[in-house]
Amino acid sequence: MGTRRKLIVVANRAPVSYARSAEGERTTIRGGGGLVTALRSLVTHHDVTWIASAMSDEDRAVSTERAGDAFEETSREGAPYRLRLVAHDTSAYDWYYNVVANPTLWFLQHYMWGLPYAPDLDLGLHNAWFNGYLPVNEGFARATIAELDRDPAAAVFFHDYHLYLAPKLVREQRPDALLAHFIHIPWPERDYWHVLPEHLRRAVHEGVLANDILGFHTARWKRNFLRTCEDVLGAEVDYAESTVVHDGRRTLVTSHPLSIEPQEFEDLRDDAAVLEEERVIVERRPEFLILRVDRTDPSKNVVRGFRAFALFLDMHPEMHGRVTLLALLDPSRQDVPEYSEYLAAIQREARAVNDRFQSEGWTPIDLQVGDNFTQSVAAYKQYDVLLVNAVFDGLNLVSKEASLVNERDGVLILSENTGAHEELGEWALTVNPFDVYGQAQAINEALTMDADERRRRLEAIRGSVRRHDLAAWLAAQLADLDRVGVAFAHGDERSSH
Ligand code: F6P
Repeated sequence: MGTRRKLIVVANRAPVSYARSAEGERTTIRGGGGLVTALRSLVTHHDVTWIASAMSDEDRAVSTERAGDAFEETSREGAPYRLRLVAHDTSAYDWYYNVVANPTLWFLQHYMWGLPYAPDLDLGLHNAWFNGYLPVNEGFARATIAELDRDPAAAVFFHDYHLYLAPKLVREQRPDALLAHFIHIPWPERDYWHVLPEHLRRAVHEGVLANDILGFHTARWKRNFLRTCEDVLGAEVDYAESTVVHDGRRTLVTSHPLSIEPQEFEDLRDDAAVLEEERVIVERRPEFLILRVDRTDPSKNVVRGFRAFALFLDMHPEMHGRVTLLALLDPSRQDVPEYSEYLAAIQREARAVNDRFQSEGWTPIDLQVGDNFTQSVAAYKQYDVLLVNAVFDGLNLVSKEASLVNERDGVLILSENTGAHEELGEWALTVNPFDVYGQAQAINEALTMDADERRRRLEAIRGSVRRHDLAAWLAAQLADLDRVGVAFAHGDERSSH
């Protein structure tokens, strides 16, 4: 990975969270999720300071003990890095995470509203924006500036939709800082941004355009962003160069799809705990196994997936008793009512399908709600069909992880609205996430596909994932930093631009 660089990673979630055991001992929980997993290897190869929110009570205690300063931590791979936990005001954090970031920005960016009924952007949202999202972003900006003062040569790498305001707040104080931002979720089309009142959609766009570089997973999200900049701000956009000029500053807009570390998954295949979970799956599985692995996020479209499976069973009575849909679902963001309601809808739908079709010894939908990565990897090995039918998804790493370790020439059914479709679509069975009938047909096509064709497609997906791995994604981010004309190699003085 070449030169060691000084990087300040700024993301809502830290790679680690703290808790207390029953005996009162402090324990550490290694953080999960696509973003944290992807950035972990940065820590191994570069000098990283990671700024994140103190999320648990124990995180807050750790932050207080260090007076809010950074301290030394060790990654899962044993690499040292500095961690700085920002203990935001608890009400402000609640408004930021549970009112603005997830039910508003996440919903907006995944097109998740039925507009005649939602959203109601009432006083609650305005209050949450100004007393939650803004102060939390200010807290992140202060911490970033403090770290830049310690090391002005470091590049700042913001992540995701939690931090749209922070770059501008940093830029106002440190005009020469090198700022990059990666957005891990879709960027919707310009008209959809008009659901947000003008001052809020302007604040989002102006906030992120304070960065030198703005990254997306796909050309589709990048294109949408370039268009919304023209529409929302009247900014000067150069589509050929992929740059936006606003307020006298130029931002380079890039697209690099995130990926996984293939070796990590190759190694996990024979891990003892994975083999044990696999034994349980093999014991229970019928002739065919359809798998989905998701957070219980409404954007993942689990309920429609169950309906499609029920329709498939209606259309193919010969398959009754021969196929199970195993749904391994990680409960997510349960303090947000829309999420807890969606989890209940998932449970209701699974129950309805099972009540209708199940027979002695056969459960059509095997729904398991929990966070068990080992079990997911075991299931990745065993599926015949992987169902990824997200309404919209920035990328979808499951489609890459699962394809890499699968041992049954499993077929990928992939929503056309996932970022991963831009890379893997030609070897998947493409579905429209709203077309339940189309998904039922795709399930049948996948289960009856010729063995050679299944193998050809899976091998092609694997080749693509190995060629475009996590190291390539990280290298592309760092090359972009160089491309904006700044040398910030370890110890170098950075020139302004
Ligand atoms: O998709 C964006 C993302 O930040 C992922 O990187 C991550 O896995 C997921 O959202 C988790 O979100 P949260 O931190 O709210 O649990």
